[in-house]
Amino acid sequence: MTLHELLLQRHSIRRYTDEPIDAEDVKTILEAGLLAPTSKNARSWDFVVVDNPEVLRRLEHLKPSYATGLSSAPLAVVVTVSPEKSEAYIEDATCAAMFMHLQAADLGLGSCWIQVRGRDTADNEPSENYVRDMLGIPYDMVVECIMTFGHSAETRKPVDPAKLKWEKVHIGTWKSDDTE
Ligand SMILES: Cc1cc2nc3c(=O)[nH]c(=O)nc-3n(C[C@H](O)[C@H](O)[C@H](O)COP(=O)(O)O)c2cc1C
Repeated sequence: MTLHELLLQRHSIRRYTDEPIDAEDVKTILEAGLLAPTSKNARSWDFVVVDNPEVLRRLEHLKPSYATGLSSAPLAVVVTVSPEKSEAYIEDATCAAMFMHLQAADLGLGSCWIQVRGRDTADNEPSENYVRDMLGIPYDMVVECIMTFGHSAETRKPVDPAKLKWEKVHIGTWKSDDTE
């Protein structure tokens, strides 16, 4: 499969089967994160690998909604990043998360980004603190997101290229719809 074919087939997956992920595949996913480009090659991130089902279940309470998938996933990778190591820390974390997401897709696995930074728990506490306290993550690390991974229990259709929003692409200069 070409990268472009993979991109057309990729989707966020929020329901997983009970099948564990092969240890080699876990290593390949983590390797993808470590291979991600970073601003000034700072490698400002650290990843926390979580495969304890009880911890995964509790992590799902990091926010009231849109954390679906954590409790059924056999694996999650918490993407943390140091603003002291790079002013482009969000971008560094994002690239690593996306490399892992795409690597999982290439291995035939599902995954989903769960946003942590900027979100709150049901008790109005920062979701970042909830995750930091549970996993012993230092408070000077930003918790950008948690990536869930597993064998997909969903069937998703590939994207139809005809439905891509080409109006979002401006050639040469910015053109809004009503000036054409
Ligand atoms: C920055 C970012 C934050 C996201 N946060 C969440 C989230 O908190 N929970 C969730 O279920 N999906 C989350 N997603 C996945 C998006 O909802 C998903 O990519 C989007 O709906 C498009 O669906 P697709 O990935 O299947 O193409 C996030 C994606 C990105 C890029």
